[in-house]
Amino acid sequence: MKFFIDTANLDEIRKAKEYGLIDGVTTNPTLLAREGADWKRQMELICKEVDGPVSLEVIATDAEGMLKEARELVKYGPNVVVKIPMLMEGMKAVRQLSEMGIRTNVTVCFSPAQALLAAKAGASYISPFIGRLDHIGQDGMDLIGSIVTMYRNYDFKTEVLVASIRHPMHVVEAALIGADVATIPFKVLFELAKHPMTDLGIESFLSDWKKTFGS
Ligand code: E4P
Repeated sequence: MKFFIDTANLDEIRKAKEYGLIDGVTTNPTLLAREGADWKRQMELICKEVDGPVSLEVIATDAEGMLKEARELVKYGPNVVVKIPMLMEGMKAVRQLSEMGIRTNVTVCFSPAQALLAAKAGASYISPFIGRLDHIGQDGMDLIGSIVTMYRNYDFKTEVLVASIRHPMHVVEAALIGADVATIPFKVLFELAKHPMTDLGIESFLSDWKKTFGS
């Protein structure tokens, strides 16, 4: 399973990179707005910082506008993946971009039907938002299961990129289902390492060592 980091913050990207666990980055307009910086410069710096795919999202909601923005976004680096919102106009843009050899990530996906359309259009990634579904009382992980099954049934090449992750179990369950990628918030990346028994175990090993051999 690939791990992407879901952030537009350069410090978070750099720190996560130090652990060697990050295969790529996903951003969105909210995450970039949160940085408040010059967004063009920020996109450029993010693309330079990582070797793996970096998803940068278009703002337009019509195919023509999306294609125009996509042509600009890919200038930020060879690792750019153009993030396209799940709209019929978006599908038109995804088809054309895929024919141009430009990778796409179809975002704000909330249903298996939408995921099927994105794969048919030739998307490189589909981003189902599981946390947001959980928040409205629908099991987000069910959606991941359905999409993985559908894609396997027909050998679609579109990768399932689990998005809107809220906690470590989202990552673990997505891995058990066989999703290709999890895009993980910085905080959750560190929560994955936590277990109280690990802390206790380390503590007792160190104290036993100290008692016998000193520090
Ligand atoms: C994915 O690419 C999105 O940036 C992200 O996961 C959205 O999640 P949110 O529900 O935390 O905004």
